[in-house]
Amino acid sequence: MPQITVQGKAIACESGVNLRQVLLKNGIDLYNGNSTVINCRGIGTCGTCSVEIEGEVSPMQWREKTRLSLPPHSSEKTRRLACQVRVLGDIRVTKHQGFWGQNDEIQWK
Ligand code: FES
Repeated sequence: MPQITVQGKAIACESGVNLRQVLLKNGIDLYNGNSTVINCRGIGTCGTCSVEIEGEVSPMQWREKTRLSLPPHSSEKTRRLACQVRVLGDIRVTKHQGFWGQNDEIQWK
């Protein structure tokens, strides 16, 4: 059973679960500021659920790749969209600052 290390918590989950859903269900502040209410609810278009992930997750598909290539995100960074990611093994999640989580400064880890 994969384990997600985030905000000082260790969350156990089934393999293949959606990262956004697990984080929200466990009270993790996935969204920064007003993006808590202004987001696409997981369809992969707003880009506000971006996080940095270490560990085994599903590969990036076209929708996620497209959104992360558009400003304020950049394909040069290694962000992922939590709503498009399936957890496949133990992972560690870091959130960066900014409405879209696009900045370099860390919001939490
Ligand atoms: S919630 Fe909008 S892209 Fe993930």
